[in-house]
Amino acid sequence: MSKKRAAKLRSRAIPWPEELARHPSGGLARHPSGSGKEKSRAAAKSPLKRKAAPPPARAKPARTSVPPPAESAKKPAEAPVPHRRTAEQLAKQQREISVSEFFTKNRHLLGFDNPRKALLTAVKEAVDNSLDACEEAGILPELSVAVAQADGVEDRFRVTIEDNGPGIVPAQVPRIFGKLLYGSKFHRMRMARGQQGIGISAAGMYGQLTTGKPTRIISRAASRRKAYRCELLLDTKKNEPTVVKEEEVDWDRPHGTRVEIELQARYTRGRQSVEEYLQQVAIANPHATILFEPPEGEALRLGRSSNALPPEPREIKPHPYGIELGMLIGMLQSTRSPRVSSFLHADFSRVSSPVAADICRRANVNPNARPARVGRDEAERLYAALQATKLMKPPMDCVVPIGEELLLKGLKRGVEADFYHTVTRPPAVYRGNPFQVEAGLAYGGRLPAEEACRLIRFANRVPLLYQQSACAVTRAAATTAWRNYGIQQSQGQLPVGPLAIFVHIASVWVPFTSESKEAVAHYPEILKEIKLALQECGRNLGMFVRRRRREAEAERKRQYITKYIPHIGIALQEILGLTEKQESEVVRKLEDMLEKSRKL
Ligand SMILES: Nc1ncnc2c1ncn2[C@@H]1O[C@H](COP(=O)(O)OP(=O)(O)OP(=O)(O)O)[C@@H](O)[C@H]1O
Ligand SMILES: [Mg+2]
Repeated sequence: MSKKRAAKLRSRAIPWPEELARHPSGGLARHPSGSGKEKSRAAAKSPLKRKAAPPPARAKPARTSVPPPAESAKKPAEAPVPHRRTAEQLAKQQREISVSEFFTKNRHLLGFDNPRKALLTAVKEAVDNSLDACEEAGILPELSVAVAQADGVEDRFRVTIEDNGPGIVPAQVPRIFGKLLYGSKFHRMRMARGQQGIGISAAGMYGQLTTGKPTRIISRAASRRKAYRCELLLDTKKNEPTVVKEEEVDWDRPHGTRVEIELQARYTRGRQSVEEYLQQVAIANPHATILFEPPEGEALRLGRSSNALPPEPREIKPHPYGIELGMLIGMLQSTRSPRVSSFLHADFSRVSSPVAADICRRANVNPNARPARVGRDEAERLYAALQATKLMKPPMDCVVPIGEELLLKGLKRGVEADFYHTVTRPPAVYRGNPFQVEAGLAYGGRLPAEEACRLIRFANRVPLLYQQSACAVTRAAATTAWRNYGIQQSQGQLPVGPLAIFVHIASVWVPFTSESKEAVAHYPEILKEIKLALQECGRNLGMFVRRRRREAEAERKRQYITKYIPHIGIALQEILGLTEKQESEVVRKLEDMLEKSRKL
């Protein structure tokens, strides 16, 4: 804006509601004094400004303190409202925020919002890692989890998780346990319990924050003679580990890892407890043995019910349908492929060399060009061509379901009921990511008849105990028509009855709603698959429920008739003049007939 024009605008400044005039940007104060044209131009430029601007004088004339434009033009010029801070002063306040500082303030995002949940989250992160590590190494997992009160303080606990996994090489231990966003799973597309590289270091950070104590680790790789023991803290300013103590020690385990964290926590039993979590882990991981030592009471041993490790999921490349333009540009910059055509073929799933050449031709991009030299416009054309090309679905052996049989076994172990049914759906794709849904139902038995059903949710074999209402599984279960299967349900609510619903989502990338990995996002493809799985289970449940109702009705009638048979005998004796013997013969025959008809 020219100086002259700016001065003119300033001279036409009008009084402005106090709270807006005080806005640090100062920019808003100029807005209403402009002409109608300027107003609309400013509003079009910035959605923020548009939002912050007061309603137009015409819309609510009585409430606004802004005089009509004609009057305001006549008003004498007022001194410009002084700024609270200048841009230069504000610039001095700008600072980088380290990821650990961010999560220290926002620990609820990681599942550490209260002491009870913090205990479960810490155990969960370590158990998930142990199971992942054992499976990757091809070892049948044997885990021990101990929760003990620490230092005699009521709300302070020591959590110890030990596994028989492959162990961790000493050089990696500090960064794994003392640096957020460091891990082996984030960059690969393969089904695993962990995916973000935050879990265990966040648990250690929470412990450090609430007790000041370091995380203690012992780990031994099979190849090493001695175990590595270390105590470390996380420097939250730098998001780097600080090793307090390290040494080589003798350890009776040939290989494995032991993590010990002291933290402020609350130990409870029942719903959403460590015990419930471990019991559900055992349902979805029948190949694992888990020993749990609670702070008080007897230890719980959950033995394995299968000696077979799940098949190893294969790692895949991203599918073109699952990427966005920015991601494609990033991949072009970082690829090791020398040419665009080889990049498309090597860095994506389901793009063969001829298809890659065809995509380049359609995008009008030189297939021999260096990927890093591809400009934004060319990248956009490549992206459009990739999306327009008909490609096969991504390979599905990157996800490994539990399987109907093992799921049934697990469900029978975890829930006492009269009826069970499990279903494993064929794999499907959301945003280019393969996923597979499994569902199971348990009905009757000791399940409470008057309450909403029990929903047991899993993602990549990990139980999800919190944020049920925010989860796609809940939405899918609540929008399934359970009345068709003889189960009570209010519109849009979970069904009511002696029912437990089990849902497992396996994927190379589970779309969680937050970093605490507690609820699955509502992708339409995922919702649809869950509903289809539940409907299939529901149809089988419907048959069972109807048969049971028929049987109950027949039993009720039988009991009714049984009550009257002796009276019929007496009546017949009187009417027909039967002897005692004949009368008892008639009664016996009637009872026989009733019994036979029941068996039929
Ligand atoms: N018990 C263990 N045995 C072997 N390796 C482990 C063990 N625990 C953690 N790791 C390694 O440390 C890495 C970091 O673990 P962390 O829990 O922080 O992240 P993650 O499991 O990759 O993802 P997420 O944040 O989703 O849990 C893992 O990727 C794994 O390679
Ligand atoms: Mg993890």
